Amino acid sequence: MEEELELFDDMTTFELTKEYALQLDQDDRIASFRNRFLFPQKQGIPKTYFLGNSLGLQPVSARLAMAKVLEQWADDGVESFFQGNDPWLNFHGLLVKKLSEIAGAKNSELSIMNQLSVNIHLMLVSFYKPVGKRKKILIESKAFPSDQYAVDSFIKLLGQDPQDILIEVKPSGENQVLQDEDVVAAIHQHADEIALVFIGGINYYTGHVFDMKHITQEGHKIGAMVGFDLAHAIGNIELNLHDWDVDFACWCSYKYLNAGPGAVGAVFVHERHHLDASLKRLTGWWGYKKEDRFLMEDSFVPEPDATGWQLSTPSIFLFACLKASLSIFEEAGWKNILAKQNKMKGWLKFLIDDITSMEEAHVKCLTPDSRGCQVSLFFQENGKIVYDQLTEAGFMVDWREPGVIRLAPVPLYNTFEEVWSFYETLKSILTSSNIKP
Ligand SMILES: Cc1ncc(COP(=O)(O)O)c(C=O)c1O
Repeated sequence: MEEELELFDDMTTFELTKEYALQLDQDDRIASFRNRFLFPQKQGIPKTYFLGNSLGLQPVSARLAMAKVLEQWADDGVESFFQGNDPWLNFHGLLVKKLSEIAGAKNSELSIMNQLSVNIHLMLVSFYKPVGKRKKILIESKAFPSDQYAVDSFIKLLGQDPQDILIEVKPSGENQVLQDEDVVAAIHQHADEIALVFIGGINYYTGHVFDMKHITQEGHKIGAMVGFDLAHAIGNIELNLHDWDVDFACWCSYKYLNAGPGAVGAVFVHERHHLDASLKRLTGWWGYKKEDRFLMEDSFVPEPDATGWQLSTPSIFLFACLKASLSIFEEAGWKNILAKQNKMKGWLKFLIDDITSMEEAHVKCLTPDSRGCQVSLFFQENGKIVYDQLTEAGFMVDWREPGVIRLAPVPLYNTFEEVWSFYETLKSILTSSNIKP
């Protein structure tokens, strides 16, 4: 199903009509993949689910995938790791093959393991290499709390004071959105001091997509390691982690990858680090060189790729769910998904621009044009009332204090008509008498 990526940067290509939305849906080559997902319902009617940035929908096939593991366990016990037509030991390799295109990584650079916050800790252990004055960690201010807590506690564990180590980059512009220039300026301002740059590839609050290639280049220029939290990026935007030369990245799989609540996460470790014995790491038997793992030797010898960072026996149930979901990505074709994402985000921007241009709306879009599926709308007043009314009308979006509604129509299961209907509903809420300030 591969097709060339269609870019819809020119807003004049869209028309402000429902018919146009319907036409976009008709032209959508991956529209049928919507049927592969289960939608929350209200009195038997599917809700409009725009929360792929929070928890992706359940693939219909997930239940069967879990049931199959239960069956294998019942039928063959531990032998299921090695035998049958789908041995558990093969799961990791299969998953990596499916995920490598989405991450823009070599197979050897991915390890599917643990969950995101745990993996952040593991990566900090390996990629924070302070030397003399070069001991600072640059993060974004108002990073996702778990990133902040992880870095903070890691620094304390090393016997250091976070105030001496952390550089938190704040937005310089008036719209309070951290920009690439802010990060790059901070990198150069502290060029002799930074050991590690670690930020979210997409900011969870604003939906801004950072220029990861540029930030990596600038970080490397001053001699720092560069890593990204890709919770909001994986399965959402095009990534080329290997070519961008990123040192490490980690993510969860329950947002745009639709692998279920608390799904197994993953790390990317660039291949140039695989054999670097100077990198410290926390170790466990599942990271031991595969061919000798069962010799149960005392001293640790890592598998010479990203799986050398694994610690524990894989969670096969979680692998099964991720396998079900990644099979849908594979069938739909990653390039097709990206093409639809591009069109859909253009459509959403076109409609949101129409709303924010209404003087009486008192709403602005926080998300810069460099974005993926997510848009964050800031309401100067009455935001919670708007949110409640959207919820009442069957839209699942999310609310963040002090006045932000985030929504993320995703290409695998949302339609252009749903985006249109959100626009119509929001416009009518904002122009109704009880919302007017
Ligand atoms: C940007 C970001 N980082 C970290 C986390 C924490 O992930 P987990 O709870 O899977 O460890 C999240 C969760 O939503 C997130 O959005």
